[in-house]
Amino acid sequence: MGALGQHAQAWTEFWQGQGEVDGCCARAPEILGPVRAHWSTFGRSLAPDSQVLDIGCGTGVAGRALVEANPSLRIIGVDFASVRVHREPRIEILSDTRMESMPFSDGSIDAAISQFGFEYGQIEDASRELARVLRRGAPFSFLVHHSRARIATDSLRHRRALQEICGTVLATAFLAGNNASLDRQLARIRHQCPHERIVEDAAQGLRRMIGEAPAHRAEIWRGVQAALAPELVMLAELERSAVSPEAMQRWLRPMARIVDRGDLASRPSDIGAMELFATPIVGADPFELAAALRGA
Ligand SMILES: C[S@@+](CC[C@H](N)C(=O)[O-])C[C@H]1O[C@@H](n2cnc3c(N)ncnc32)[C@H](O)[C@@H]1O
Repeated sequence: MGALGQHAQAWTEFWQGQGEVDGCCARAPEILGPVRAHWSTFGRSLAPDSQVLDIGCGTGVAGRALVEANPSLRIIGVDFASVRVHREPRIEILSDTRMESMPFSDGSIDAAISQFGFEYGQIEDASRELARVLRRGAPFSFLVHHSRARIATDSLRHRRALQEICGTVLATAFLAGNNASLDRQLARIRHQCPHERIVEDAAQGLRRMIGEAPAHRAEIWRGVQAALAPELVMLAELERSAVSPEAMQRWLRPMARIVDRGDLASRPSDIGAMELFATPIVGADPFELAAALRGA
């Protein structure tokens, strides 16, 4: 499986463990209100009957907030994971669909949104595809992970803990059946990764099973690694995707023409409270973007 397939698979497993109405923000309840308010405002600003694209839609929470604010909208979400959701009259979700290659004709979409989705894609290809499918002058609004927001910093800490748990030092102690060494290593990890519940869970499990026969221990270890692998992939992707204010201009380079016009970076946001958590991009005129990307 290629890297992209691995990422899609990891997200598929993530969504299998979530409720249908949960979005990825369920882990950061403090931002649910501001994010929802943002989509309500954006939804109300759209013309009746607009067809809105939701990029990296997951279970479609952002689109649902839009429809609640403006019930005539039709949402079409794309996500490269397989996401199972009940059909809703105004929301269609296309699973297994990459944002870099979307099954829509040129200029057929009236507006686009993304709630912590667009930044996970290959920005250059995704920008080009966005510019292709949006009709001239279509508005779009993306909320992008901010590298210093709690979601990103918590993920970083959690990833470190998972890496330590899957690391060779702990594996050696466990596979050798060495209780004293296992305890030393667990104490070290606990010290390095305080308040990480997964460390306590791993400690309890490994201590309980270290007395098993060597072949069984090896099997248990493979199971632990396989169970944690998808989350490690997702957390690495989040870390790669999160944008810092300092890196924003460089990150936006594929959308250079729009940024040059000042629409993106300087446009005031009505979600001031969100600035700590995400960087909003609200742009216009994708045709100029398409031209810029073609080098016109
Ligand atoms: C952080 S989640 C956000 C989901 C949803 N927007 C929400 O807020 O609940 C990121 C989503 O982007 C999707 N994704 C990542 N890379 C993608 C790509 N290249 N094309 C389409 N979807 C992608 C993932 O499968 C995942 O569902």
